[in-house]
Amino acid sequence: MMRAGLLWLAFALAAGAADQATIDKGQKEEQRTCLPCHSLRIVHSNRLIRAGWNKELDKMAGWGAKYTDRDAILEYLVATYGDDKPVTPPEMSADGRPRQ
Ligand code: HEC
Repeated sequence: MMRAGLLWLAFALAAGAADQATIDKGQKEEQRTCLPCHSLRIVHSNRLIRAGWNKELDKMAGWGAKYTDRDAILEYLVATYGDDKPVTPPEMSADGRPRQ
């Protein structure tokens, strides 16, 4: 259904939803940008709205984080760790992935 597809696209754009390629890029950028200083668990245990993640990224920049694609990281964090996502279960390894 073409019409429904277009409506969905319009909705996604209006809602500011990032495309999957940007989100995937953000995840890679996160590994490269954030891991030198701390584990990702400290990042992924948070659930923040866009403004909150934006502020965190500014704060990390103030502490020396160097971004090559800040936008991609922001979109990835908002899409994956937004305040609408369920909180992380406590059993996590240091890299933020669930324990096996
Ligand atoms: C130059 C070092 C550095 C880099 C790079 C860095 N951080 Fe941090 N980050 C810190 C420090 C220091 C803390 C405080 C750690 C603690 O409390 O144990 C912190 C803590 C945090 C916290 C916990 C909340 C807070 O504000 O204390 C979040 C969330 C966070 N970082 C996100 C990120 C993200 C996302 C990235 C990558 C985009 C990143 N950090 C990269 C230094 C860094």
